[in-house]
Amino acid sequence: MTLLEVKGLNSYYGDSHILFDVGLRVEKNEVVALLGRNGAGKSTTLKSLMGVVTPRSGSVVLDGQQLAGRKSHAIARAGMQLVHEERRIFGSLNVEENLVLAGLTAPDRWPLARVYEMFPRLKERRTSRGTDLSGGEQQMLAIGRALMRSPKIVLLDEPFEGLAPVIVHDLMQACRDLADAGQTIVLVEQNLAATLQLAKRVYFINNGHMAHESSAAELRCRPDILQKYLGV
Ligand SMILES: Nc1ncnc2c1ncn2[C@@H]1O[C@H](COP(=O)(O)OP(=O)(O)OP(=O)(O)O)[C@@H](O)[C@H]1O
Ligand SMILES: [Mg+2]
Repeated sequence: MTLLEVKGLNSYYGDSHILFDVGLRVEKNEVVALLGRNGAGKSTTLKSLMGVVTPRSGSVVLDGQQLAGRKSHAIARAGMQLVHEERRIFGSLNVEENLVLAGLTAPDRWPLARVYEMFPRLKERRTSRGTDLSGGEQQMLAIGRALMRSPKIVLLDEPFEGLAPVIVHDLMQACRDLADAGQTIVLVEQNLAATLQLAKRVYFINNGHMAHESSAAELRCRPDILQKYLGV
């Protein structure tokens, strides 16, 4: 079953046309990755889905509901969550307050215990303020905040960026567990190995255009595709 269907999305920053007729599809329970060079339009695509950037035209249908043009809080209510690159947690609140606050206005929510089960480190740090967390802990908290709202789909923008390999390993495992539990995810990542382990299908975006779609299995034996769209 298709959970998210995006068609003909055009987004701008001022007069700069950034996304050109972007389309993609995500099945329920699927992990899909969006890859592309720096500045290709990956974050803009996620922001356009979430209504942080309002697309000028196009359609974003989540579970039968048209979301294009709606405000991000309405889109959140409809079941989408974006974990921004810059993480956006409340530094003056502690871990548990951050989590509880995130879930407050959600129509449906995870129990705190389930987030702590996924990220035991957050449970240990439950009374620590946001500003006192390491980069990895902040990322866990950012993902935990998204999960508190029991989203139908989570959009992750470079969740492993700038983190030590040991933390990336833990976060990868948490994402793997989430996926195995049936969470639908759209993943933007520079870490290709991690992406190909998590995602089943991959879209390549190039200069704001959807350039290619491939299964992760195919990519593992087709370095020419990675070379063409990522230059790696
Ligand atoms: N707030 C903004 N105002 C104007 N232009 C922007 C803004 N944010 C991004 N851009 C431009 O839009 C284009 C797409 O940017 P975007 O952040 O979506 O790329 P990206 O694929 O996420 O790149 P990266 O890998 O560096 O995160 C780039 O040319 C970028 O310079
Ligand atoms: Mg980006």
